[in-house]
Amino acid sequence: MAKPTTSFVCASCGNVTSKWAGRCESCGEWNSISEEAPLSQGPSGKSLGAQRGRSVALSDLGEAEAPPPRTMSGLAELDRVLGGGLVPASATLVGGDPGIGKSTLLLQAAAAFARSGIPTVYVSGEEASAQVRMRAARLGLMDAPVRLAAETNLRNILTTLEAERPGLAIIDSIQTMWLDNVEAAPGSVSQVRAAAHELTTFAKRTGTAIVQVGHVTKEGQIAGPRVVEHMVDTVLYFEGERGHQFRILRSVKNRFGPADEIGVFEMTGAGLAEVTNPSALFLSERGTPAPGSVVFAGIEGTRPVLVEIQALVAPTPHAQPRRSVVGWDGSRLAMILAVLEARCGIPFAGLDVYLNVAGGMKISEPAADLAVAAALLGAREDTALPEGAVVFGEISLSGALRPVTQAENRLKEAAKLGFTSAIGPAAGKETRVAGIAGTRLPDLAALVGEVFGA
Ligand code: TYD
Ligand code: MG
Repeated sequence: MAKPTTSFVCASCGNVTSKWAGRCESCGEWNSISEEAPLSQGPSGKSLGAQRGRSVALSDLGEAEAPPPRTMSGLAELDRVLGGGLVPASATLVGGDPGIGKSTLLLQAAAAFARSGIPTVYVSGEEASAQVRMRAARLGLMDAPVRLAAETNLRNILTTLEAERPGLAIIDSIQTMWLDNVEAAPGSVSQVRAAAHELTTFAKRTGTAIVQVGHVTKEGQIAGPRVVEHMVDTVLYFEGERGHQFRILRSVKNRFGPADEIGVFEMTGAGLAEVTNPSALFLSERGTPAPGSVVFAGIEGTRPVLVEIQALVAPTPHAQPRRSVVGWDGSRLAMILAVLEARCGIPFAGLDVYLNVAGGMKISEPAADLAVAAALLGAREDTALPEGAVVFGEISLSGALRPVTQAENRLKEAAKLGFTSAIGPAAGKETRVAGIAGTRLPDLAALVGEVFGA
C-alpha cells in the first residue's frame, strides 16, 4: 500500500499542493498554506469492530430527519430526469459516448445550479481550467458563480471539497481520477471503483451532491460507467447520434424518481438547448405519410412522446435475410415477424427487413409492438396508414392485442399535435379524447384485415 500523502492547503483560495511554499502559486497569497491531515485511507489498517455501528427504529426518525427539499436548476429537462431537481447528498452518474456532450451539459447544469443558489464546484480531470473557461465563454456562462478546479488526484479533490463543502460537485470524468492507495493506472476498474466509492461516501457523509461523468468505452482497457452503476443513487445516460443534433438524457436508475424519464436537448453552436416539445421535434423531419412509416404514441417516463417508426422490406439476394434495427430491440422484432407469419400467414422469409426509430430515439416499451407491425405490413404491402393516425398496443404471442398504460395521455398528445385518429387494442376500457377517432382492434389479424385489407 502506498504511504499516506500529506497535502498542503491554501487558506485563502483552497488550492491544494503536495509541497509547502511560502506563497500560494494559485492566488499569490503569502503565508496562507498549512499542512492538512491526510484523509482516511479506507478500511485497510483499521481493525474491524473498532467502532460500533448504530441502528435507529424507523418510527424514531422524526420530522427533523426528513430529507431536505430538492433544488431545481431551472433547466426543466434536466430537473425532470433527476426526478424533480437535485437531492442533497445524492450520488449521480452521467454516462455517454465520448464527444456526445456530457461536459457541455454538466457545465451548463453547474451554472444553472450555481445561479439558483447552490455553491457548485466543477472539477475537470480532462481539461485545464482555462479550457473550461473558454467553453463557459462560448456557452455564455461567464457570469455564473461556479468554482473550477483542474485536478485528477482524488485525495486532493476530496480535501478541497471537505474544506469548501459545496452543495454540488461535478467530477468530469471518473476515468481520469486516481487514488494514491490504489496501485493501478487511472481508468482501470480498481481505480474507477475506488474513486466512485470515495465520492459516494463523501456525498453521504457531508451532504454534498456529487455528479460523476463516465465515458462509455468501446475497449476493455478502460473501465466504463457500468462498473460503478450499483454504487450511485441515480444513473443517467446521455445518448444521441453524433451526426444528429438531438441529445437524450435518460434515467436508467433513480432512487429519487421514476426511471426511464427522458430529457431532450438540441446541440447548437452555443451549447445544449432544451427541447420542450420533443414530439414536434421527432416528427419534424416527416414528410407525407409513406408506406412503412407509422407514428407511435409512446410514453417515456412520465411524458407522452410521439415518434416515427420506419420500416423497409426488400427482397434479399442472400440466403440469410437481413434483420437490421436501429432504436429498438432486435429480438422483439424477430418475435413480431414470427407472430405475423404464424398468426396472420404473412411470411417475411426471403425479405430483408430494416427498422428504424427516427430522430435517434431508443424505444423499449412493448406498447410499440403494434406500430412496428403496422410499419412492417405497410412496407411489405406498399400501403400507407390513413393520414393523421397514431398507433399503439402490445402484441402477445397468440397475436392478441394487449392494453397499454396511459392511453389517455397518448391520445391527448396526439390530439395536441394535430393527429385525428388512433389505432389501438380493443382490450381494456375505452378511452375517448376529443378530436381523435379510435379504431379498436382485438388482434393482429384484425390490423391486417381492416387496415391493410390483406
Ligand atoms: P463535450 O461536452 O466535450 O463531450 P463529452 O464531454 O461528452 O466528451 O462535447 C463535445 C462536442 O460538442 C464537440 O464535438 C463539439 C460540440 N459542441 C457544440 O456543438 N456546441 C457547443 O456549444 C459546445 C460547447 C460543444
Ligand atoms: Mg468531456
